[in-house]
Order: sequence, then structure tokens, then C-alpha cells
Amino acid sequence: MKYPLSEKYSAPALMKKIMGPNPLKLEEELLTNHRIPAGSLVCDLGSGQGLTSVFLAREYGFTVYAADLWSEPEDNRRFFAEMGLTDAQVLPVKADASDLPFAPETFDAVVSIDSYHYFGRDPAFLDEKILPFVKAGGYIYIAIPGMKKDCHDNLPPELLLSWTPEDLETMHDAAFWRSVISQSQGAEVLEVSEMISNEEVWADWLRQENPYAVGDRKSMNAGAGRYLNFVKIVLQKKPAKG
Ligand SMILES: C[S@@+](CC[C@H](N)C(=O)[O-])C[C@H]1O[C@@H](n2cnc3c(N)ncnc32)[C@H](O)[C@@H]1O
Repeated sequence: MKYPLSEKYSAPALMKKIMGPNPLKLEEELLTNHRIPAGSLVCDLGSGQGLTSVFLAREYGFTVYAADLWSEPEDNRRFFAEMGLTDAQVLPVKADASDLPFAPETFDAVVSIDSYHYFGRDPAFLDEKILPFVKAGGYIYIAIPGMKKDCHDNLPPELLLSWTPEDLETMHDAAFWRSVISQSQGAEVLEVSEMISNEEVWADWLRQENPYAVGDRKSMNAGAGRYLNFVKIVLQKKPAKG
């Protein structure tokens, strides 16, 4: 596919902000023909250093809460200002997805790139920890690194050159995620599918001199990419009962 929006952000200074396979191209693919209404309040869940939040605000016109655990909100606020965005457009928030600091039904949508696999593998997580903060009828768009086919009982040696079995425990195939997500009582599953941007987003990441990207090259140069993919999940919160 073509990435006309992401390509505007290919400058090296911006690519330094990525924390894994190009999250903007993943976000652009994820949101192709999306259903989130214009002007929505969106939670970028696991926003990292904020590039995906800038993208949501500037390219889609959403008001964004950039919610993240490992990054520092003040660093992200400085970055947002450098990108010409105010707190009214993108607000950085220190937040743990398992204990979000928001009022009930705050968001029209949640968008999450390369993060949900860290915290969302328990089938109860979505209903208990995320859906309470989404308005009835609101959307959840997720893109996560996964496997073409789960192989945790017999991990190929190429994968173990860069990652431990514990690292790989977060990565699963589309069938695993479909089974996790379809246990939700509160959300309708609109789509679970493999994404097409896999090779493209990995190539952008492996070009970076970030030590994590350098570490990932061992596996990827040995051909580990043939076991990996990205999984797209789209959900809609059901209306309240009664
Ligand atoms: C690989 S980075 C992706 C960041 C960003 N979405 C991107 O694609 O550039 C994973 C992010 O998940 C976030 N994360 C992991 N566990 C989390 C949790 N329990 N609550 C909120 N964020 C979490 C980390 O803070 C980290 O920034």
C-alpha cells in the first residue's frame, strides 16, 4: 500500500522517536476507512514518545490524550509544542492501561499501536480496564506485533537470536487474538486480521540506530520475519443494556 500521510514524517529527527516497526505506517493502515467520527476525543493508548498522537491530531483532526506508562509526559509535551500542538489538541498523560485515570465514558475512540500485546492478553482486560472509559458506540482500533502462527512450544532458533521466550510470549497469531477479544461481553468484534504493512514497517525500524533496532537485526537478518506479522483488531462498544 501507499503511505501518503506517514511519508510526511520520514525526517530522521522524527524517525528517532519510533520505538518499533514504523508506527505511523501501521496507524495509517489501521485507520484506512475508519469509522471514528470527525472531531472525536481519542485515547492514544501506549502512545510512547508521542509520534502516533501527533499523527492522530494533525492528520485526522482528533483531540488526543497521549496515555503512556514508560515515557515522561513533560518530554512528550515539549515534543507536541515543537510540532505546533497545544494541550487542547494533544494532552500527555502518565497512565497505566490497567488503571486508567479517566472519568467513565470519556472517549469516542481508543487507538493503540504496538502496545496492547503488553497488557491486553487476559480476556477480561478489555471489559474491565478499557471499555468503561469508552462511550457506548465508540470504537477501539488496535495494531499489535504478532506471529503468523503461534509456535511458543517450539520456538524457531531465528526468533531466539534477538528475543527471549518471555518477550515472545506477548506475540500471538490472529486466531489467538480473535479468541481473546471475542470473549468480551461489552464489545462487538468488527475485524481481526493480519496487516499488510509488515515488511515495510520492519524495514523502516531496522534502518534506525536505536539499540533496540540494532538488537532486532540479529533475528530479522537471519530470516525471523517469516514467522512474524502485525494483527489489526477493530471493536465497537455495545450500547448500554436497558
Ligand atoms: C513499543 S512502544 C510503542 C509506542 C507507540 N505506540 C509507538 O508505536 O511508537 C510500547 C509502549 O507501550 C507502553 N505500555 C506498556 N505497558 C503499558 C501499560 N500497562 N500502560 C500504558 N502503556 C503501556 C509503553 O509505555 C511503551 O511506550
